Amino acid sequence: MSRQVIAVTGGGRGIGLAITTRLLAAGYGVVANTHRTQALPGELLDSYPDRIVTVSGDIGVERTSQDIVEAAQRLGRLHAVVHSAGVCRDRLLMTMDKADWDEVIRVNLGGAFLITKHALKVMTRQRYGRLVYVSSAAALMGNAGQSSYAASKAGIEGLSRSVSQEYARFGVRTVALSPGLVDGGLGAQLPPAVRNERRERQLLGEAAVRHVAGTVAFLVGPDADHINGTVVHMHGGIRF
Ligand SMILES: NC(=O)c1ccc[n+]([C@@H]2O[C@H](COP(=O)([O-])OP(=O)(O)OC[C@H]3O[C@@H](n4cnc5c(N)ncnc54)[C@H](OP(=O)(O)O)[C@@H]3O)[C@@H](O)[C@H]2O)c1
Repeated sequence: MSRQVIAVTGGGRGIGLAITTRLLAAGYGVVANTHRTQALPGELLDSYPDRIVTVSGDIGVERTSQDIVEAAQRLGRLHAVVHSAGVCRDRLLMTMDKADWDEVIRVNLGGAFLITKHALKVMTRQRYGRLVYVSSAAALMGNAGQSSYAASKAGIEGLSRSVSQEYARFGVRTVALSPGLVDGGLGAQLPPAVRNERRERQLLGEAAVRHVAGTVAFLVGPDADHINGTVVHMHGGIRF
């Protein structure tokens, strides 16, 4: 049986890098998409020289998704895609620039559309595939100052549900994973007062990056084969 390969968008930094690392440790081949990140950590490349490939490119550009899928096919069999690439441009809506709105939708939601479109061409042919979209609790709850980000993530969840209804008959499963505040990546870049305020709303505080990576590893694995077209929430419980 050929090697199972997972493509991770935004796989070179933050939560995406933790997902890349976790999936490599679990034995998968990984195609890690990076944009501004120059290179993956050297120890990762040294530890898994024959199981990791980097594809550099903007996930909002269609060619990048084509390159990712082609790289995955060269490495083995495209088993799953994890769309973790994401940006935010937080502003109150009245002062939000159209360009910032467009960029958040283009990368977060447009990127999800493009990688899904190109992965499906392979997954429908092989009659198996997993699509995991990293969403956010902002999709469910909304968040003042994050209307573009929340809209992009709610869009991802709608995309995921619709794709499951179109392609379950080809053995393709989708799931959106919706973390609350996480102790790395975008969460760690928040101003301390905002971060504290959000942390206090979560009954278990912040999730660790490894919680997200470990849950992704479960969701792409065989024990999660019946999870489809739904959202997995991992905010640790939220209070009003
Ligand atoms: N951290 C949290 O508290 C939290 C909570 C809920 C959900 N999330 C979600 O988790 C995911 C990862 O975010 P993070 O927290 O790890 O943030 P981060 O450290 O800022 O990482 C953002 C990732 O997105 C990639 N990216 C940005 N623009 C891109 C583009 N145009 N094309 C391709 N890749 C692009 C970056 O790649 P380069 O560095 O190579 O440019 C980087 O890997 C996002 O979808 C985010 O919405 C995070």
